[in-house]
Amino acid sequence: MSAIRSIEELEISGRRVFIRVDFNVPLDGTRVTDDTRVRAALPTIKHAIERGARVVLASHLGRPKGEKKPEFSLEPAAAALASLLPDGEVVLADDCIGDGARKVVNDLRDGQVAVLENLRFHAGERANDEAFAQELARLGDVYVNDAFGTAHRAHASVSALPGLIAEHGAGLLMQRELTALGKLKDGAPKPFLAVLGGAKVSDKIGVIEALLSKIDALLIGGAMANTFLAAKGLSLGRSLVEEDKLPVARSILAAAEAKNVQVLLPVDVAVGDGLDATAAVHVAPDSVGDSQMVLDVGPQTVKAFRDKLIRAQSIFWNGPMGLFENPAFAAGTLGVAEAIAASTGFSVVGGGDSVAAIMQAGLGDKFGHVSTGGGASLEYMEGKKLPGVEALS
Ligand code: 3PG
Repeated sequence: MSAIRSIEELEISGRRVFIRVDFNVPLDGTRVTDDTRVRAALPTIKHAIERGARVVLASHLGRPKGEKKPEFSLEPAAAALASLLPDGEVVLADDCIGDGARKVVNDLRDGQVAVLENLRFHAGERANDEAFAQELARLGDVYVNDAFGTAHRAHASVSALPGLIAEHGAGLLMQRELTALGKLKDGAPKPFLAVLGGAKVSDKIGVIEALLSKIDALLIGGAMANTFLAAKGLSLGRSLVEEDKLPVARSILAAAEAKNVQVLLPVDVAVGDGLDATAAVHVAPDSVGDSQMVLDVGPQTVKAFRDKLIRAQSIFWNGPMGLFENPAFAAGTLGVAEAIAASTGFSVVGGGDSVAAIMQAGLGDKFGHVSTGGGASLEYMEGKKLPGVEALS
């Protein structure tokens, strides 16, 4: 990080500052349902406005696969941003390159803000295409990357573009994310616990392998716990189990034992007869009926996890403990969120679903750091180099 300049060190006053943000926000038609990522980018945007920069914001939203699809427009995100800015003014360019975009950008006055339309309306973005990056480079005198959530993607606006704009650096959010995650990556105070959940073991294998040499205990919930329980020979009815990952789960358990890392799996589970079940029944993991599905961890598990978490010095959490969007199966995720909030240890939570759960519970300010990056924070903790960070060095 030391070789990366901060936006605070860059000369931005009166200049066109191209800021890559991550406004990949959830939408309900044309309304932003969770503006966390827009709010998280505000310190950088406000800093640029206050310095009199001509602010050019660029982002992707969803995966429109190189085509201009109206349902992936950044218009709702631009409106959400406007509502958070003191003067409420944001101009939206209807493309991110070309004459129209250049006109919008060149008409900006000092302190004004433009949002470019979705970068992924062009295939060149995901292809990290040099010619596309050259077009983007025409829109900025200075480049700032504040999109930590997209830093693990080697895409044109993240990877190729900083190489084309000599003056470049990190935004305040990017710096905050790297500082917080950096505290856990190297030399985190112990006991250091990782709580992993979500649907699939396959998404987390890399991070688990990397974490095993740093952590004291691994607490596993969510559907991925099913695969571990099945790997121990339990039969879990109609629950989601990744049959092809049973050998990996077994080798993770063996590696944890060899490294003296305690693995806590659910000691009770909440079952239902389908994803839309309206009531949870709590049973032991070895008593799941053939027609039942495990949809959350049970109260005894929350208690066991809490007892550990409360004494932790460092905590990394990614992935919900169950199907928390169904209120009947939200207790496990909320219980873990409350336990981490009650711990005095330094905690980082990442991943859209876990973050949504803690926001829903009003616990956001009780965590050491709430990351805007799900995949990015996992890859960072895994020790992978993030293209968006590398390109700033
Ligand atoms: C995210 O939401 O994780 C980032 O915005 C990256 O989006 P992507 O997974 O579509 O590349």
